[in-house]
Amino acid sequence: MKYPLINGVLAFVLFSFTAALPIASANNNTVTFPANFTWGSATASYQVEGAYQEDGKGVSVWDTYTNQHNISNGDTGNVAIDQYHRYKEDIALLKKLGIKSYRFSLSWARLLPEGTGKVNQAGIDYYNNLINELLANDIKPAITLFHWDYPQALANQGGWGNRKSIDWYTNFAKLAFQSFGNRVDTWITFNEPYIDLMIFEPLIGNRIHPTFPAPPNHPFELPNAVMAKQATKTHHLMMANAKAIQTYRSLGYKGQIGITLNLSPVYAATASTQDFKLSKIEDGIMNRWFLDPALRGAYPEDIKALYEHYAPMKIKSGDLAFLKANRGDFIGINYYSPLRVGADAQSVHFGLKIQPNPNQWKAYNGESYPDGLYELMRRIDTTYNHPAIIVTENGAGYGTADDTLVDGQVHDALRIAYLKDHLVSAKKAIDNGVNLKGYYYWSAFDNFEWLSGYKARFGLIHVDFATQQRTWKDSATAYQQIITNNGF
Ligand code: NOJ
Repeated sequence: MKYPLINGVLAFVLFSFTAALPIASANNNTVTFPANFTWGSATASYQVEGAYQEDGKGVSVWDTYTNQHNISNGDTGNVAIDQYHRYKEDIALLKKLGIKSYRFSLSWARLLPEGTGKVNQAGIDYYNNLINELLANDIKPAITLFHWDYPQALANQGGWGNRKSIDWYTNFAKLAFQSFGNRVDTWITFNEPYIDLMIFEPLIGNRIHPTFPAPPNHPFELPNAVMAKQATKTHHLMMANAKAIQTYRSLGYKGQIGITLNLSPVYAATASTQDFKLSKIEDGIMNRWFLDPALRGAYPEDIKALYEHYAPMKIKSGDLAFLKANRGDFIGINYYSPLRVGADAQSVHFGLKIQPNPNQWKAYNGESYPDGLYELMRRIDTTYNHPAIIVTENGAGYGTADDTLVDGQVHDALRIAYLKDHLVSAKKAIDNGVNLKGYYYWSAFDNFEWLSGYKARFGLIHVDFATQQRTWKDSATAYQQIITNNGF
């Protein structure tokens, strides 16, 4: 069996060895999680549902991108993995997997075809059926309100650039709370606003109507002025986050609600002072820009000044106090990989360049670096006053070397190693005082992976996209055992 990382090999050797020793815990685990730890797995509406024009659903921006502009190698989410029709079969698989919680997102345009106004009852019915089926199988639903499939009708009115977007979103959130809040106790307001608004929206917009040269080295290296223009949109989104949290509580619901951020430790590529400074800037852009308003009700001044050099932000008086007064119950972390950055005089992105993945086995979302998860959680714990944390996503895919279906089996040893290595890191964080409540593997199923279309598989369960046949991978068995033993 091949392991991608040196520490993966060491961990494997260590676990095999220590498991046989009498000092191992009563259940023979080397790594045991707290008794009430939430084991889950995640998906998102556009990536799995399909049924893109069925039962009154409206159009989302991703329907438009993929059907009108060939953004994902010609792939679309029109059918995806057809979970809209196959949710019972899929929930049976999730039940077998043993997860305690399934994180899925709502298609805003399925519930409100125009984004606001008339409700589509068939959309409400679909999510009611999904939720009830999950509960009947002892799986708790965890709803992400918004995972990127923004209603096209609202995008046409300026989307997040329009301050009305705060109320559009709040009304949608209220509809969801009032429709499902009696059976759902975990709510995620937004998924990865950085990727949505600072990367995909400008990057895709630029592919459709080019205004700047495509980033030659790494998609995250968008020009300073482009990022600065997006900054006000992120503020409207953070206001919508706070308003949804306020609404949830004012309606008297007692569940937990929070936002999910994609976070990456950012390291300097060399020991030079310049690289160090640049790593702090990139860290501010990716991490602090969202952590600070979500957990403190403020923006990092250094990054705000960088953005305002190009475009003044539209923050109204009272906004920051509102953010501060309406912070979430937990912070959701999506962790995949760290970034390593170095100076590059040619770069239009704050003079820095993101370094290539140094690992031998290349994961789709960059370097496999499990310690990064520990570091992130410790940092959040100490910097932001010990918040509750949920790992709402973590996962990997490595391409054909790890993901080929042969005789009805997928031997994805690299994914298993990735999973275990990151769980070791998560447990270490718990042992060091981090209030980590749960872990959701991304993803339960292979699905539509945005700009990569169907080329990048992250699932525990293999999906044949032509026949929709689901096949259990080795990693599904591994995760099932981990959940059964509450560790490994
Ligand atoms: C983050 C996103 O939330 C999810 O939609 C995506 O598929 C995974 N990462 C994997 O890239």
